[in-house]
Amino acid sequence: MKIFILFSITFACGFLKIVSNANPLPYEAIFNFGDSTSDTGNAAFGREPMDKKSPYGSTYFKHPAGRMSDGRLIIDFIAEAYGLPFLPASLNVTKSQGDTKRGVNFAYGGSTALDSKYYFDRSGLDKPTTNNSLSVQFDWFKNQKPLLCKSKEECDSFFKRSLFIVGEIGGNDVFLHISKTITELREIVPLIVESITKTTNALIEEGAVELVVPGNFPMGCNVDILTKKISQKKEDYDEFGCLIAYNSFIEYFNEQLKKSIETLRQKHPQAKIIYFDYYNDAKRLYEAPQQYGFTSDKVEVLKACCGGIGPYHRDANWCGMPGTTVCSDPSKLINFDGPHLTEAAYKQIAKGLIEGSFANPSLKPAAFKIV
Ligand SMILES: *[C@@H]1O[C@H](CO)[C@@H](O)[C@H](O)[C@H]1NC(C)=O
Ligand SMILES: *[C@@H]1O[C@H](CO)[C@@H](O)[C@H](O)[C@H]1NC(C)=O
Repeated sequence: MKIFILFSITFACGFLKIVSNANPLPYEAIFNFGDSTSDTGNAAFGREPMDKKSPYGSTYFKHPAGRMSDGRLIIDFIAEAYGLPFLPASLNVTKSQGDTKRGVNFAYGGSTALDSKYYFDRSGLDKPTTNNSLSVQFDWFKNQKPLLCKSKEECDSFFKRSLFIVGEIGGNDVFLHISKTITELREIVPLIVESITKTTNALIEEGAVELVVPGNFPMGCNVDILTKKISQKKEDYDEFGCLIAYNSFIEYFNEQLKKSIETLRQKHPQAKIIYFDYYNDAKRLYEAPQQYGFTSDKVEVLKACCGGIGPYHRDANWCGMPGTTVCSDPSKLINFDGPHLTEAAYKQIAKGLIEGSFANPSLKPAAFKIV
C-alpha cells in the first residue's frame, strides 16, 4: 500500500512536470506602458483611496481598483487570456512585495507621449495632470530592471519570452491640444509618433523581442470630444453620430504610426512588432452596437454611462463626484465616463485583438478564451 501511494505521488508529480513543460504559458510576462486606458493602479497609488461606493470598478472588482472604468481594461483581458495575473502597478512594486515575474505595468493615467516640458514651455496649451510621460515610464522600467533579472543573459532570456506593450499613448496629447484646429493637431503627430517609436526602439535594445504598438481609438466617437466639439452642422457627423474630422485625424495619426513601425521592423528584423488596430476594433462597436450586446438606440449608445446632463451625459464633474449619476447597466454602453470606455467595450476590443483580426501580425495563440 505504502509503495503504491509513493509510486502514485511520484507518478503524479512526474506527470504534472511533463504537462507544465509541454505547455508553458505563451508569454512568461507582460510589460505595459501607456495612459489611463491601461493604468491598473499607478495614478491611484499613494492617493486618497476613492470612496468605496464610487462607480469605478463596480462591475468586476466591486470597488475602485485603480482603473478608469467600471471593470477590467483591455490589458486585464489580455493578461487573463494568456494565463497571467493582472499586472501590478510599477509604483506599487517593491523588493519585498509584489511579484514582477509575470510582468509590471508602467502605464500612468493622464500621461502624455510628449514630455510634460513640451507643455510647460508653451503658453496657450493645457498642462498635463502628470509629468509621468512615456519616457519617464521607460526610466521606471530601467530602474526596476535589477528586480526583474540579474545578468544580461538572464534578462535576454526573460525578455525574449515576454510581451512588451507600448501604448495606447498620445490620446492625452490630443486632448491637451483640443482648443487647436485639426491642422494644428496634425503638426504634433510626428512628435508623438517619434516618442512612441523611440521607446519601442529602446525596449528592443533592452532585449525585447515581441512588442505591441497600439494605434489610437476613434476619438470622433469619444464622449469627451463629442461634448467639447459639438457642432450644429449635420455634415460634421457620420451616420453613426461620430465627428468625421476627429476620426479622420486619428486615421491620419495611425497611418503615420504604422509607417514608423514599418521602419522599426526593417531596422530590427529579429523583433516582432505587432500593431493593435484600436481604431477599427472599437469603431465596429459604434457601427453595429447591438451585435456586441450594446443598446441598439443610436442616440443612447453615444452617451457616457457615468456623468450628468448634456447631450452625451458628460458632466463637468468627474464620474462619482457630487451630482453625477450612473446608468443602470454599464454593459449596454460603450462609454463609461467621458474619455474612458466600459468594461464591456474593453472586453469586445480585447476579443477583437486576440480572437479576431485586429492585431497585425497576430499575438501568440491565447491560453484561454475571453468570456
Ligand atoms: C498594491 O498592491 C497590493 C498587493 O498586490 C494590493 O492589495 C493593493 O491594492 C495595491 N495598492 C494600490 C493602491 O494599487
Ligand atoms: C511637472 O513639472 C513642472 C515643471 O516642469 C512642475 O511645475 C509641475 O508642478 C509638475 N507637475 C506635477 C504634477 O508634478
